[in-house]
Amino acid sequence: MRLEGKVAIITGGASGIGLATVKKFVREGAKVLIADINLAQAEAAVAEIDALGFPGATAAGQVNVSIYKEVEAVVALAVKTFGKLDIIFNNAGIAGGKPLLDHDPEVDYMPMIRVDQDGVYYGILAAGRQFRDQGTGGVIISTSSIYGEQAAELAFSYSAAKAAVISFTRSAAYELAEYGVRAVAITPGRVGTPIINQFSDELKTLFASEQMRNKLTLPEEIADTVAFLASDEANAINGTVVHVDDGYSA
Ligand code: NAI
Repeated sequence: MRLEGKVAIITGGASGIGLATVKKFVREGAKVLIADINLAQAEAAVAEIDALGFPGATAAGQVNVSIYKEVEAVVALAVKTFGKLDIIFNNAGIAGGKPLLDHDPEVDYMPMIRVDQDGVYYGILAAGRQFRDQGTGGVIISTSSIYGEQAAELAFSYSAAKAAVISFTRSAAYELAEYGVRAVAITPGRVGTPIINQFSDELKTLFASEQMRNKLTLPEEIADTVAFLASDEANAINGTVVHVDDGYSA
């Protein structure tokens, strides 16, 4: 029960890595606000977790992370529902891309920047203000990607946004240290979530072959790392990147 008594917001918590992390956090004793643009799916996740034997441990909130007022509102909802905020996992994201010279900037650049980049900035800002006002410290974990550190095919905009997540993490750790806040970014490689599962078996086999031990990473494996990083056991890990990529970047 490494997160006993803690309150967390997990953005993108209705699916994939986010949902696996909600389940892990609850098993570790946390209360979690599942914050997602898809309210119906977030509510279904709450029902699923109630049925797993954790009634009342989660609540659902609708948020578009690319709108600051909505992120602020979801922080307020977590505090209203569970009394405080200790952890935010800025994880909501979208993927996709085209060759650079085929870009329509409004379609192929801005959406990625608004969700994957601005969404993380807004999460850090709104949670950071709450942590300062509470005076209790806090932990900010944000999902970057291997593509935040390296170039890849069809990833021009996604890479830019995910690189910003790493930069935000360093700067947030620096700026919020005086309030007892830690910040860490994670860089998954190929994780078996709906983002990957939409592809053909052939492509999934190719993705797995890009990682050591020829396997896709399980969302539950990312969740285990996030729970550790959110806990006091990771108290010395701050302002840095933790690679959870099954050796992809090694
Ligand atoms: P997913 O598609 O299963 O989950 C993403 C969740 O974010 C969904 O529930 C979706 O409704 C929500 N979401 C999308 N836009 C939103 C918005 N504007 N506001 C609030 N919620 C929004 O995807 P997955 O794979 O779990 O991805 C989670 C994070 O991990 C993303 O940031 C993604 O870029 C990152 N990632 C995923 C990898 C993979 O191989 N699956 C690899 C590296 C990074």
